[in-house]
Amino acid sequence: MSDFPFSVGPKIERQPVHPSINEAQISELVDRFYTKVRAHERLGLLFAQGMEKDWPEHLTRMKAFWRSVLLKTGEYKGKPVPVHMKLAEIKTEDFHEWLTLFEETANELMEADAVPIVLETAERIATSLWLARNNDIFAKTPVWAELRQAATNG
Ligand code: HEM
Repeated sequence: MSDFPFSVGPKIERQPVHPSINEAQISELVDRFYTKVRAHERLGLLFAQGMEKDWPEHLTRMKAFWRSVLLKTGEYKGKPVPVHMKLAEIKTEDFHEWLTLFEETANELMEADAVPIVLETAERIATSLWLARNNDIFAKTPVWAELRQAATNG
């Protein structure tokens, strides 16, 4: 058995994070999500100020990014952290708004079972971008789901 007692070299799992997720869905998710982002008063402005590429190129890149993350295609080779470090003023609230729109769009398109998995992935990446920008090493990392819950309740 090649797996006994252990396999040699990395075993690359190219399984989607949820079996219902496919390429067409990701494409639609990205298109719809960024249509909302552009129409959002504050996020739209942050993107307009921070974009170096044009929108078609950004959407193509984001589709490759999400295929890499959700379908494990390994095709995205960029570095999101330095890109977001350069953006003048993203605040915790902006990440929260971003995630709210993302959740809304995922709910429109994805199977109910897949949504929490996709959201947790987005939240994890948002946290790493947030941490990279945060100078206070003792600051408490936002719990995005709690922020969204609080916004819904009040
Ligand atoms: C307040 C929240 C955010 C803002 C304002 C923002 C804004 C931007 C801007 C302006 C760019 C550069 C686009 C260009 O130059 O054409 C970008 C790129 C990108 N963003 Fe965000 N972003 C946010 C949150 C996120 C989150 C939460 C994720 C992931 C879950 C993410 C993933 C990416 C990726 C993968 C890129 C492409 C980087 C590359 O060039 O390879 N962003 N974002």
